[in-house]
Amino acid sequence: MSVKQLQEEILDLKKNCDVTILAHYYQTIQIQQIADFLGDSLGLSQIARDKANTEYIIFAGVDFMAETASILNQDKHVLIPNYESCCPMAAFLTPEMVIDFKKKNPGLPVVTYVNSTAAVKAESDICCTSSNAVKIVQKIKEEFNAQAVLFGPDANLADYTEQISKIKTIKMPENGHCYVHSQLTIEDVRIIKRAHPKAKVIVHPECQRSVRELSDFVGSTTQMHRYVKESPSEINEFIIGTEIGLLERMIEDFPTNKYYLASDKMICHNMKKHNLELIKYLLENLDDKNFEIKVPKNVAKRALGPINKMLDYS
Ligand code: 13P
Ligand code: SF4
Repeated sequence: MSVKQLQEEILDLKKNCDVTILAHYYQTIQIQQIADFLGDSLGLSQIARDKANTEYIIFAGVDFMAETASILNQDKHVLIPNYESCCPMAAFLTPEMVIDFKKKNPGLPVVTYVNSTAAVKAESDICCTSSNAVKIVQKIKEEFNAQAVLFGPDANLADYTEQISKIKTIKMPENGHCYVHSQLTIEDVRIIKRAHPKAKVIVHPECQRSVRELSDFVGSTTQMHRYVKESPSEINEFIIGTEIGLLERMIEDFPTNKYYLASDKMICHNMKKHNLELIKYLLENLDDKNFEIKVPKNVAKRALGPINKMLDYS
């Protein structure tokens, strides 16, 4: 069966189901094309809370994203096409580590990147995403009247947030990172810049500081998309320092520009575990509990506060 036929079957099946399909920009373009909503982590959480008014939500993203949607929709069924799609960054921080950091740093607020487990969120004061980390850290520092914040698990996002906000971030832990973004080197960027000297370099804050400093713009996936959308017409070449799925989105949305992936290593194999066949299976088997994301009630209850606080502060 061709991709087009499969997509048509999915769209037909969807007509008779009370379901919303959410997809992150790192999904394959074929999945992006059949989604009801696309977005970055913050956008998808807002949509999950405010717009996904169906009994079922299919979340084409990694586990923490689907968990967040489930925490925000405890009366609905949140399904993930492949339950092995996880974000390895989340494993850098356990709830026990957060408790220990809090003990050693009394009075400091805990800010956790949404790329974390629900149990870690439950130990936090507030969550953040790459698009609102600076604002969240500024607001929570003020609220706690603190001199610094505890921030985890991404040490690169913590460093970026500290650089922009001038508020000290104590990294939980020192070496938390994303394998996709942190492997992008200044050498990779220099090589591609040499080949395309007119191109603007846009990167995600999960990249290392040395890479961010070589770039023209740093932002979340939605912010990068907006940067390209709002660029004047004479700027029409972009080097994309994030996962390839966003580059595919840009080609669809702004086809007259030229795009170059900063490195051919920019593929999140965890995000790419979903496919159209799995989504079709889910639409035909919405009650297959193997694919339902369930966060233990007591954890969900405690994680909801920091997530909602982030949404309110955004
Ligand atoms: P965004 O929130 O910017 O989409 O990022 C999510 C992510 O996992 C980045 O690696
Ligand atoms: Fe996690 Fe990195 Fe994949 Fe984002 S790109 S989901 S941070 S592994």
